[in-house]
Amino acid sequence: MRPAFVFGTRPEIIKLAPVIRAFEERGVKPLLVHTGQHYDYEMSRVFLEELGLPEIDHHLEVGSGTQAEQTGTAMIKIERVLMDERPDVTIVQGDTNTVLAGALASVKLKIPVAHVEAGLRSFDRTMPEEINRVLADHASEVLFAPTEEAKKNLEREGITENVYVVGNTVVDAVLQNAELAERKSDVLERFGLRPGEYVLITAHRAENTDSRENLAKLVEILESLPMIGIYPMHPRTRNRLKEFGLWERVSSIGNLIVTKPLGYLDFLRLERNAFAIMTDSGGIQEEAIILNVPCLTLRYNTERPETIEAGGNVLVGLEKERAIGYLRKLMDDEEFYRRMASAPNPFGDGKAGERIAEILMGLYEEGKLKVKSSKFI
Ligand code: UD1
Ligand code: UDP
Repeated sequence: MRPAFVFGTRPEIIKLAPVIRAFEERGVKPLLVHTGQHYDYEMSRVFLEELGLPEIDHHLEVGSGTQAEQTGTAMIKIERVLMDERPDVTIVQGDTNTVLAGALASVKLKIPVAHVEAGLRSFDRTMPEEINRVLADHASEVLFAPTEEAKKNLEREGITENVYVVGNTVVDAVLQNAELAERKSDVLERFGLRPGEYVLITAHRAENTDSRENLAKLVEILESLPMIGIYPMHPRTRNRLKEFGLWERVSSIGNLIVTKPLGYLDFLRLERNAFAIMTDSGGIQEEAIILNVPCLTLRYNTERPETIEAGGNVLVGLEKERAIGYLRKLMDDEEFYRRMASAPNPFGDGKAGERIAEILMGLYEEGKLKVKSSKFI
């Protein structure tokens, strides 16, 4: 069996690494296709190195662009590789433009698509990620839902065949790397931080960074932090802050450390030892609850509602009063802090990667890994 992995951004590399590893442990050598949606060293190669991934077979160097430019270029380049290589299945993960391009290019060549992290929905169609998720799920033959809730979302859209609830591979990634991070990373010492005494911040979503008005609201939150903050900043946010003339304000905040994006081991150690996390990232909302750190999400909705229901995450939007209010409550109310920090992890046991490899290899051996002509009949 020859599976192809198509990926291109930081979270896809992190969350697919356990699946790639599981195939390798079973004697299957996957084909690795990197679209190059992320291309800076600290957005891509650092993760390939730290997670010990094998050499990439095809670097497509798609780079940045508008939604259609990026997706279209990726589709054209992925199609060429898939036509030459004819893998048995194309595996994609998540909701990026790379995922949509990979899924569409593959299914049209009648190469079945397996979607890891299927069935997530924010129900907000103004987000590019929501469009990508819905379309990738409908183009997929095999759907790996992380939770029962995700499976229900798929059912509601008529997708009921070959749906497997396997947990989220982010748990595998965290469990495989958290101890290593604690031993190997010196991030706290480098930045002079003490465990439990800082808030870790990330924000990069289009809805938060592409308008000056929203980005200025984020800056107001940063200016009001009641404790030390550290913000490993996504290049998108850095570029927008400069473009909108907000960079000076951010760089002059006394109790805020702004750094380049960090490698996974440094970032995991920062997460694990943070007092709280403020983020608009999907993966970081998940990692926060896995690592027992309270999460305040800088968004008005989430496709990870399980974290809210479990009590480990609160949506604060870009509302300064609400965001800072919750941070202060966490600082002042020990019982509230304890409740948020001890919320149970809804994303499984860290064996999602193994399950995914087993299921796909089983389907392949039974001759069932095919694009069906009668999916909805
Ligand atoms: C993408 C995903 C988003 C995901 C994020 C993970 C889509 C629509 N969005 O957003 O869901 O959460 O990846 O981090 O696919 N840039 C660099 N260097 C890089 C990469 C990007 O400077 O290596 C800058 C460029 O100015 C680029 C901008 O960041 O235009 C945005 O990059 P892009 O890949 O389009 O979207 P992300 O914001 O990274
Ligand atoms: N991450 C990292 N370094 C950073 C910021 C994030 O290693 O400086 C990791 C983080 O641990 C998580 C993933 O990147 O596993 C999340 O990626 P991102 O927030 O870019 O994307 P999203 O999950 O929102 O799609």
